[in-house]
Amino acid sequence: MAFERKTILESLHPHVKRIRATSMRKMFEENPARFADFSTSACGILLDYSKNQIDKKAMDALFDIARACEVEKNRNKMWAGEAINITENRAVMHMALRYDGDENLQVNGEEIMPKIRHELNRIEQYSNQIRTGEIVSSSGEKFTDIVNIGIGGSDLGPLMVTKALEPYISPDLQLHYVSNVDGAHIHDCLKRLNPKTTLFIIASKTFVTDETMTNAKTAKNWLITALGKDAVSKHFAAISTNIEACNEFGITKSKIFGFWDWVGGRYSIWSTIGLPVAIAIGFNNFKAFLSGAAQMDEHFRTAPPEKNLPVILALIAIWNRNGLNFSTNAILPYDQHLSRFPAYLQQLDMESNGKSVDISGYRVGYDTGAVIFGEAGTNGQHAFYQLLHQGTDIIPVDFLVAANSHENLPQHHEKLLANCFAQSEALMSGKNLSEVIEELALSGMSNEEIKTLAPHKVFEGNRVSNTLLYKKLDPKTLGSLIALYEHRVFVAGIIYNINSFDQWGVELGKQLAKKILPMVKEEKHKKGKNSSTNGLLEYFFRLKS
Ligand code: F6P
Repeated sequence: MAFERKTILESLHPHVKRIRATSMRKMFEENPARFADFSTSACGILLDYSKNQIDKKAMDALFDIARACEVEKNRNKMWAGEAINITENRAVMHMALRYDGDENLQVNGEEIMPKIRHELNRIEQYSNQIRTGEIVSSSGEKFTDIVNIGIGGSDLGPLMVTKALEPYISPDLQLHYVSNVDGAHIHDCLKRLNPKTTLFIIASKTFVTDETMTNAKTAKNWLITALGKDAVSKHFAAISTNIEACNEFGITKSKIFGFWDWVGGRYSIWSTIGLPVAIAIGFNNFKAFLSGAAQMDEHFRTAPPEKNLPVILALIAIWNRNGLNFSTNAILPYDQHLSRFPAYLQQLDMESNGKSVDISGYRVGYDTGAVIFGEAGTNGQHAFYQLLHQGTDIIPVDFLVAANSHENLPQHHEKLLANCFAQSEALMSGKNLSEVIEELALSGMSNEEIKTLAPHKVFEGNRVSNTLLYKKLDPKTLGSLIALYEHRVFVAGIIYNINSFDQWGVELGKQLAKKILPMVKEEKHKKGKNSSTNGLLEYFFRLKS
């Protein structure tokens, strides 16, 4: 099987050879309709992929790959509730969480929509009651601060969405996210809070994750010290698939919101994990967020590959990674509200497609998921874009930008857009030596000065990017954007023939941390397996005061 995929991916080689003999600048000059040929839209999102090193033949070859790898068939298997997460024997049904149609979706012969709607209704009720003050704290006060304690998918999704939808949050509600086991995180959060008006939401699919449970216990102690034991049930809610463990922690049944093992952590923002978001933006906005994702799902499930945004985005990613050998992908939102979107996609993509064995357990003979990183524009321009423009590696970029901002500051938004469009053009077209020399000569420089300076001012160009342009970052558009990337990850995973829905790679570090913990606690235990860890432990005890 691995061999077959390798062969399929190698079918890109002749196209790469042809593309390397030309440049995007040339292709734009030769084809005035290039933008029209290589752009498409759905759910209010335009995808311009014309600034990639592709031509029609390369795209056709990529669509052939999608067909050969049976992307559609696998997509249907996911929708049908088959256990496509084979190493955990689980279905992958995050699409059902935002589905609002009449299909009777099932997992293991059990209807799942009634369960989903039941939990959604509970979220609606609870979030409304917190917002209106119908549910109050142990001192009878309205909650002003909500602290979500979770990590990974139980943190990054709600955190990113809360930041993204800040314009929809009323100023009398403060949302806080604590994830790191580093005591600084919870300490710095709590020091500004009034226990009497603070609600904690413990978000953990498993309810055993060490970081989350450590933070949850610290929060509980902090609350008990201030308000006494009886206050716990009023100040804590939980989101988990492990109801028993929530009970044991002391959280009352009415405040435990469930979800299911067929929702992966990094795909869980649409489940009750979205509770802090629903509290923050109100349930109607949360519903709009879900509906945006549902619209993208519908598009993904019905549009032909040639018009299918997630399929195209995935194929471009495959082309960049496996055709052109680019190993990274920068996510650069020109949208301050999306400042945590790169971090969110990092988990979504890298935890899903950072695999080296295929579905049958064989070592893959090709590269899989790329390294995802990013930062909001224009900040990145003054930090790492130097390397994007003149470094030795080509870093494929996804630019994201809204046509309209929420703020009435047009002079800011015009500049933001101009910068975004300028960056993709600069990366694509570059500036060659003769253009640089001409420019320097016009500025009155001597030949000698030009000779010294010119090579440093050359931009090779031919650097690739996608641009995603949407009307405004409202809840619906955000839902569509996230679902778009979820499906990009899925399609790429199918083409790589890997399981995008497990994450065994995070386990070894967790296990070792457990073994090393006693060695950190007590010097006499310091017996590691290698001289480096032992050396670090020894040095640690020398420094420890
Ligand atoms: O360690 C990785 C991981 O399992 C992620 O996949 C998950 O999102 C995160 O930990 C948190 O897990 P939980 O929600 O069970 O606490």
